[in-house]
Amino acid sequence: MTQRVAVLGTGKIGEALVSGLLRAGKQPDEVLVTARRPERAAMLRSTYGVDAVSNAEAAAKADTLILMVKPQDMAALLEELAPHVPAGRLVITGAAGITTGFIASRLAEGVPVVRVMTNTPVLVDEAMSAISAGAHATEEHLARTEEIFAPVGKTIRVPEAQQDAVTALSGSGPAYFYYLVEAMTDAGILLGLPRAAAHDLIVQAAIGAAVMLRDSGEHPVKLREAVTSPAGTTISAIRTMEDHGVRAAMIAALEAARDRSRELASGT
Ligand SMILES: NC(=O)c1ccc[n+]([C@@H]2O[C@H](COP(=O)([O-])OP(=O)(O)OC[C@H]3O[C@@H](n4cnc5c(N)ncnc54)[C@H](OP(=O)(O)O)[C@@H]3O)[C@@H](O)[C@H]2O)c1
Repeated sequence: MTQRVAVLGTGKIGEALVSGLLRAGKQPDEVLVTARRPERAAMLRSTYGVDAVSNAEAAAKADTLILMVKPQDMAALLEELAPHVPAGRLVITGAAGITTGFIASRLAEGVPVVRVMTNTPVLVDEAMSAISAGAHATEEHLARTEEIFAPVGKTIRVPEAQQDAVTALSGSGPAYFYYLVEAMTDAGILLGLPRAAAHDLIVQAAIGAAVMLRDSGEHPVKLREAVTSPAGTTISAIRTMEDHGVRAAMIAALEAARDRSRELASGT
């Protein structure tokens, strides 16, 4: 990559991307950042050695613009940017629920837009980032986007129509696992374990299970069967979960998240 990349709205996720780009071999003078507060700009300059500039300057100087502001700040950012984005720029939006159409309609005709839905494990290089091409985005633009997000986790390409489902699944997904860990820690306390021990036990079980899911190539049913002996403890727990409709609750919960994502995208 020899092109210059700018992150506009360098908050938590934007900063993780800057760190990933530099670790992947980009030089600090190939990365620009923008921030709303001068103290944040100063921190980014001193920590990463990158130049913090205005949004207009970023649009003029960088080949790829990554818009990482919150969804509610996107319209104002685009209004500020619009006069400064030439047709040759690639614009990547990382804001939840903001469509490529929303971005494209506020910029000059022909500007290619790519949408990415990542998640908070971007902060530990374990993100799941789903990438969709908008109007005018080509294979080269998608490949450039993958190069930017690959250093901070996995990437996948999906049609933009699936981004609400992605938001419900991997975007919000980490929260569901935290929720389960909370619930299981409470269960451990009920069973007489000290809170700290219950927390450590279940967090390590979660990490072990996640690594096995990722690295064994086995279907989750197979992995679960390996823990489920006849008339054993696990099947007693599973039966109770089925009695309480845990699987059905999960499906309904993700459907609700998908519907909420659709509502947010339509501005309601
Ligand atoms: N967090 C998640 O779980 C998650 C997951 C997937 C996707 N996303 C998306 O990623 C985006 C960033 O999320 P985040 O958690 O990194 O938010 P964040 O920490 O609030 O970062 C956004 C940054 O943009 C700055 N900003 C706002 N308007 C600006 C402007 N006009 N010019 C320059 N900078 C501006 C904000 O400045 P201030 O510091 O002054 O507010 C803030 O530092 C969001 O759109 C979100 O939907 C988030």
